[in-house]
Amino acid sequence: MDSTNSKVRIGVFDSGVGGLSVLKELLTQLPGVEYFYFADQLHVPYGRRSKADIQRLSRAIVEFLFEKKVEILVIACNTATAKALTYLREIFPDRHFVGTEPALKPAAAATDTGKVAVLATQGTFQSDRYTSLTERFANEVELFENPCYGLVELIEAGKLDDPETENLLRGILAPMLAAGADTVVLGCTHYPFIEPTLRKIIGEKIKIINPAPAVARQTTKIFELMKFEAWGETLLHFYTTGDPEMLERQVEKLLNLTAKAEKVEL
Ligand code: DGL
Repeated sequence: MDSTNSKVRIGVFDSGVGGLSVLKELLTQLPGVEYFYFADQLHVPYGRRSKADIQRLSRAIVEFLFEKKVEILVIACNTATAKALTYLREIFPDRHFVGTEPALKPAAAATDTGKVAVLATQGTFQSDRYTSLTERFANEVELFENPCYGLVELIEAGKLDDPETENLLRGILAPMLAAGADTVVLGCTHYPFIEPTLRKIIGEKIKIINPAPAVARQTTKIFELMKFEAWGETLLHFYTTGDPEMLERQVEKLLNLTAKAEKVEL
């Protein structure tokens, strides 16, 4: 980083609007910097894409963000973290990456029944990183996993509390609740946006674990270690491979922010 310029740039990417749940936390924990948010909405959902596909798309996105001179890159997507973080670190060994992973460790600490529901994508579940997480942190607990087919699409469409979304969630959660799960891990960054619908179904007693605060804490840690200084004014830039006007409306709805988005072709 140019020492004469204290402006810090942070890139954040996801397949779509899910990463906005991470951006929201970043704006709270680490304001005063310049954020570049990238939504790959032409290719959303990533959940059932091949590893090669996700690696290719993720690489193109981070190259785009590095051209914007971002100093820290937050992969605000569990699926891209699961399939591409190791690959990206190999290709760009000098860069700072922060990944997003299902919060199994805090869930194992939080559960009283020893039964934890994990909502994530197929791609996240079918990854070495997830297997390693379960081996390290979930030996003592029973996990109930569901790849939530269709849920990301409903959230992208803004159907956060529609009967369709509620019914899908009820079907996913019923066997987990019946089995005694008392903790729900949100293993996809889209899902915090349906937390009110989830609460309606599971009630107030069941714990919900959203990894976004931990991702923002990790980003802040790197920020502090690098001795970056915040710039003062928070600046936001939005890019999408899909429809920029749609992303602007989504940012308005999900973050309550007025945004200008640009279209990018990968
Ligand atoms: N938001 C993503 C995640 O955290 C990706 C969802 C998808 O595109 O399938 O996994």
